[in-house]
Amino acid sequence: MDKKNLYISTIGCQMNVHDSEQMAALMEKEGYVCTDDVGQADLILLNTCSIREKAAQKVMSTLGRYRRLKTKKASLIIGVGGCVAQQLGERLLLKVPDLDLVFGTHNIHRLPEFISEIEKTGKKIVETSLSEKTPSLGILTPPRKSKVTAFVTIMQGCNNFCAYCVVPYLRGREESRPLEDILEEIAGLARSGVKEVTLLGQNVNSYGRSTKGATGFVELLSEIEKIEGIKRIRFTTSHPKDISDSLIEAFSQLGKLCKHIHLPVQSGSDRILSLMNRRYTKNDYLEKVEKLRRSCPEISISSDVIVGFPGETDGDFQETIDMMEEIRFDTLFSFKYSERQGTAALKMEGKVSEPLKKERLRILQSLQELHTLEKNKAMEGHIEQVLVEGFSKNCRSDVMGRTSTNKIVNFTGHGDLVGTIVPVRIKEAYLHSLRGEML
Ligand code: SAH
Ligand code: SF4
Ligand code: F3S
Repeated sequence: MDKKNLYISTIGCQMNVHDSEQMAALMEKEGYVCTDDVGQADLILLNTCSIREKAAQKVMSTLGRYRRLKTKKASLIIGVGGCVAQQLGERLLLKVPDLDLVFGTHNIHRLPEFISEIEKTGKKIVETSLSEKTPSLGILTPPRKSKVTAFVTIMQGCNNFCAYCVVPYLRGREESRPLEDILEEIAGLARSGVKEVTLLGQNVNSYGRSTKGATGFVELLSEIEKIEGIKRIRFTTSHPKDISDSLIEAFSQLGKLCKHIHLPVQSGSDRILSLMNRRYTKNDYLEKVEKLRRSCPEISISSDVIVGFPGETDGDFQETIDMMEEIRFDTLFSFKYSERQGTAALKMEGKVSEPLKKERLRILQSLQELHTLEKNKAMEGHIEQVLVEGFSKNCRSDVMGRTSTNKIVNFTGHGDLVGTIVPVRIKEAYLHSLRGEML
């Protein structure tokens, strides 16, 4: 039998990147081989995101390109998974009639069954049930290639219902994976050479909260700390209202826990935070940051901010700017508020015009560039422990890795450094990376 080619394209967050890896692993077991050339594909899977309108539009334009390939190869199967699939279900087939498969965020483990059915009968399949107990959470797929870093899903879903956000509607309610499963998966990754794991969840701080008799997030971290071969642990994302004192202390107590936290703040105005249903105030957030810096002075802090949420005045926006000046984030991901179907903010008054959102974003991003560069420049001359992940993007005689604080470092070095932690003196700092010299 001829081998069949699978092309996977991923839009969206790390959760989606990891889900795509699992899709690839499941289909490889069925004899598919991954290709980077979409023209060669017998099966195309598009893993989609719906967090903002722009992401959803990208899905439609990408599908437009893929469906043209069907005119050349009638047997080509096109499947759409992820958050747009979850959101639109059957309606996606009306918009893009030549799709073969629409599958939701809780149905990934059934992908081989769906594809085999389509191959046999040519029938279209739509499956987006959120109520399926998700073995996807624990698809124990052996690592496919030797890697230094790996994602591990520890929970899925979200119970927070922030007023702007579609995720709770697309990923269902919070559900934590059993501790033993996670530890078993990480031990397996360690045996295959993985050195760093990033634990994934929409709100990792509430790990275990929705599971009877389960352990909490800090206990999970302490157990992973004991796994031989794993040198570094990261996690994303944390909700500021749920970050506990014991997690803050873990940054000074667990040697493998990286000195970086992504703690999305969204706004510096208490009025907007309350409208967003974030359930913390600016002062609560500042207090957490202070405690984190007390526990671990070198910690780097990144965050997310939305500009132009309904009702955001110049004064509210100024409060966000003032907060940024006070905290000085290492990195900030900032977005123009985007209206999403089904969310509470859709009906809120005081819509901010597109040009004003654009202007606020520009002001915020240029301020952040100053802060990021200032933080990076402060590292010049320092010696950093860098876990080497691979070759640099632009130059094969250079390798790249990350500091514990999640800064990218490029330096001249051999491929056999990959997977090791080496001391590097930082020579020059840029906005998105550092240049160093191995000692
Ligand atoms: N679970 C994560 C975030 C997931 S979405 C958390 O709570 O931290 C990632 C980021 O996208 C959010 O932090 C927010 O800043 C942004 N975002 C979400 N919905 C948005 C919307 N409707 N418009 C603009 N940005 C949005
Ligand atoms: Fe969305 Fe809020 Fe849940 Fe994050 S915590 S996924 S922003 S609802
Ligand atoms: Fe996008 Fe879904 Fe992730 S909406 S950000 S892919 S959870």
